[in-house]
Amino acid sequence: MLELKDLYWTLNDGSSIINGVSFQTHGKLTVITGPNGGGKTSIAKLISGVEKPTSGEILLDGEDITALDITERAKIGVAYAFQQPVRFKGLTVRDLIELASGNTLNTAELCDLLGKVGLCAEEYIDREMNTSLSGGEAKRIEIATVLARNAKLSVFDEPEAGIDLWSFSRLVQTFEEIRSRADGSLVVISHQERILSIADEIIVIADGKVRIAGEREEVLPKLLSGEYTCACPKRY
Ligand SMILES: Nc1ncnc2c1ncn2[C@@H]1O[C@H](COP(=O)(O)OP(=O)(O)O)[C@@H](O)[C@H]1O
Ligand SMILES: [Mg+2]
Repeated sequence: MLELKDLYWTLNDGSSIINGVSFQTHGKLTVITGPNGGGKTSIAKLISGVEKPTSGEILLDGEDITALDITERAKIGVAYAFQQPVRFKGLTVRDLIELASGNTLNTAELCDLLGKVGLCAEEYIDREMNTSLSGGEAKRIEIATVLARNAKLSVFDEPEAGIDLWSFSRLVQTFEEIRSRADGSLVVISHQERILSIADEIIVIADGKVRIAGEREEVLPKLLSGEYTCACPKRY
């Protein structure tokens, strides 16, 4: 279980980005949604340790992880897929996925992981993770590296961005598979109705605050009815 307690994040210039965010995840798949610029990516960075909050606490399964840096959080099982994929010149797709998984993988295993994000492994495993990959390809490979980690908590920031419909469907299926497994929980930042509709819980973030939080059954109808115009889900 992930718990954020009264989290604030203020920049050096005094602008406050996150203004007292508290929530707990209870289910396996929590979706964070809300308008652009609302603070979703900032929350993902605070959870993964890319940024440190100005005040407040972050707990994972009851353990206070606020003081841990990104590497320490990774070690205890937090994995984060950036909204903008990171590129690593000189490393191949195979290198990256093996690094993430902590094992040497055979082609069948690599195929399985890349297949989950709609890529054909044969074409990609020896490619370098450089600018020759399109944005959507780089993004999907990054998602595959997070899947390879099999972490206690995996955070995906707008995984739908730049991904075609078929790959997106495959990814939604993958999230559902993870959700049905005993171990590991997911926090997915998304605007997509199809991701919202498989959530256990939905949290709407706007202006650096929680606007609505609750079980999908309760929150999604409100979003779909347009009651919260700031947070209308997108349909593919
Ligand atoms: N490092 C930063 N420096 C300056 N402004 C930032 C920084 N990170 C986020 N912001 C600002 O904080 C607000 C929330 O951003 P973000 O968390 O990326 O929102 P979202 O992911 O919901 O679109 C935006 O106004 C953004 O410009
Ligand atoms: Mg964002």
